[in-house]
Amino acid sequence: MEYRRLGNSGLKVSVLSLGSWLTFGHQINDDMAEKLMIKAYDNGVNFFDNAEIYAQGKSEKVMGKILKKTKWDRTSYVVSSKVFFGDGGKLPNQTGLNRKHIFEACHAALKRLNVEYLDLFFCHRPDKETPMEETVWAMNHLIQQGKILYWGTSEWSAQEIMEAHMVAKDLRLIGPVMEQPQYNMFHRNKMESEYLKIFKTVGLGTTIWSPLASGVLTDKYLGKFPKGTRLGMSGNEWLKERSLTPERLEITRNLNDLALELDTSLAKLAIAWCIKNENVSTVILGASKLKHLSETLTSLDVVPKLTTEVDEKIEAILNNKPVQPAF
Ligand SMILES: NC(=O)c1ccc[n+]([C@@H]2O[C@H](COP(=O)([O-])OP(=O)(O)OC[C@H]3O[C@@H](n4cnc5c(N)ncnc54)[C@H](OP(=O)(O)O)[C@@H]3O)[C@@H](O)[C@H]2O)c1
Repeated sequence: MEYRRLGNSGLKVSVLSLGSWLTFGHQINDDMAEKLMIKAYDNGVNFFDNAEIYAQGKSEKVMGKILKKTKWDRTSYVVSSKVFFGDGGKLPNQTGLNRKHIFEACHAALKRLNVEYLDLFFCHRPDKETPMEETVWAMNHLIQQGKILYWGTSEWSAQEIMEAHMVAKDLRLIGPVMEQPQYNMFHRNKMESEYLKIFKTVGLGTTIWSPLASGVLTDKYLGKFPKGTRLGMSGNEWLKERSLTPERLEITRNLNDLALELDTSLAKLAIAWCIKNENVSTVILGASKLKHLSETLTSLDVVPKLTTEVDEKIEAILNNKPVQPAF
């Protein structure tokens, strides 16, 4: 396993990590969740990602039980939660980035995850209704109380991230360290264009999500629609419609041919392609079966195969290279 610094912080995260969205407490049983976490940890994964909204808090409860049972040394792993969407409550203040919800969400996550502090706490989306000062102060307060160690954002624009930095600098508070954006072969703009300046100036760790575009960047949707997958689950029709378009399937077919030419699988190629971007701190893997992790945890082996010539072939297939900003 390789470990990378999370942005400008001194914290090191494994370049492959494990997430729990749509799997823990939902698609898979608790026994499988435990097996997946143990397999990841035994292979050097030190970061486990979660959020208050995942399975309405159940995902954190499942992870918390596993952390308690395994008795892993608390110094050996990094665990996160995210605040914004709430854990199911619809009343005012049960969502958002106001001081009350940030404070209550943090306490609820600590309880569910069975930990005394969160290593990473993300603002899961920007909150247009809360002043930036209030959010930055609330995060700083939690750090001073020892309840969180680092705070960050998810799916914020570069402008919003910089506003948080400016407020933090002005008030002499601790600013955001990391962002959690979607990044995969289909979805590149934030990581390869919008954030480029921030990587160079204030620094930004990135814990990227959906590296396989919810499983589309594998060979499994190229034949008959498979059983027991995320996109086939009832309730996920919205995700299937968005993820599995004819254009994407055509690209996937071409990428799969290239992966076979390179004597690897498309899943591994797609993850290695993310790892190769040096602005990626960690690629969060998702898995519903042990065989998924057996495959994706070995993706680092494929990085050396991504030569300039192979990169060019990939760009020709994808045809979606973001326009580079002029600076
Ligand atoms: N901040 C945010 O807004 C946000 C949003 C989404 C996710 N996330 C985080 O990012 C993590 C990863 O995202 P993700 O789960 O969407 O990642 P992903 O890698 O795009 O999709 C994971 C899914 O792909 C399939 N898969 C994985 N490995 C496979 C393999 N080797 N062969 C075939 N299929 C494979 C599995 O689905 P099947 O069950 O269909 O096989 C698995 O659950 C989440 O768990 C969460 O922690 C964050």
